[in-house]
Amino acid sequence: MSSFTGKAEYEELFNPKAYLDAYFRMSGGSMGDEYLQFVLKQLAETFNSGKIKGDTLIDIGTGPCIYQLLSACEVFKNIIVSDFTEKNREEFNLWLKNQPGAFDWSHVLKYVCQLEGDRIPYQEKEEQLRKTIKQVLHCDVFNTNPIDPVTIPQVDCLLSCLCLEGACKDYESYVTALKNMTSLLKLGGYLVLTGDLGNTYYMVGEKKFTGLCLNEDFLKEAITGAGCTIENFEVSKKTKDSLEKGADFLAYYVIVARKERNT
Ligand SMILES: C[S@@+](CC[C@H](N)C(=O)[O-])C[C@H]1O[C@@H](n2cnc3c(N)ncnc32)[C@H](O)[C@@H]1O
Repeated sequence: MSSFTGKAEYEELFNPKAYLDAYFRMSGGSMGDEYLQFVLKQLAETFNSGKIKGDTLIDIGTGPCIYQLLSACEVFKNIIVSDFTEKNREEFNLWLKNQPGAFDWSHVLKYVCQLEGDRIPYQEKEEQLRKTIKQVLHCDVFNTNPIDPVTIPQVDCLLSCLCLEGACKDYESYVTALKNMTSLLKLGGYLVLTGDLGNTYYMVGEKKFTGLCLNEDFLKEAITGAGCTIENFEVSKKTKDSLEKGADFLAYYVIVARKERNT
């Protein structure tokens, strides 16, 4: 694969609308359907299990997305979202402020409501999530405090989806970025990571972004090295070829780990 797409490429060339269109339409056979179905089910089980509790969750590398927060907002009163690029934060804010041009998440909202037993109408869940989002911050996983200059008390849960595999050039930088992220998490708090294995690139519109090719053994070592004990590591192999032109991953994962030491 060609040269690494780093921070400058994300800031300049990552088009949030193209990303949402390609991966989050959930329109049957569209790119990202399998990932979404697997991850949404795992997150619904994880956040509805009663195991993960507390007041505040931070999501690192949120991008323009809300799917990963839909079950979490049943548990947490405060959610902080964060991303490196201004365009992603602007796109997220369009949805947050319910402004014209915002991405329509209703299909994903309905799917999660169904997974959770149709307890509330999807419009109510969307409003509940909006009320729960307390801050939309800039973040850079390569800063020792990723949300610098903002400081917050350590949180109860740290979520990050498909972020480090895009942001990190090699295993060494992944380990550093993960440690930076987990410094935001309190002892006893939970780290929830989702992403893909074996991926070397993904398309956002016409632009190719590099992916750090992850495997289970590396992830286990990196998470343990960041002071966390893995409680659940679910993997689902890709079954369709629908994403072949958009990305080359082999499987998706959801990891739940508990922070037990500071590093
Ligand atoms: C593949 S997208 C994932 C977005 C979203 N979390 C999701 O699940 O679809 C990768 C995200 O990582 C962000 N990112 C890239 N470099 C970063 C960095 N150094 N620090 C924090 N986020 C970064 C990008 O802006 C982008 O939103």
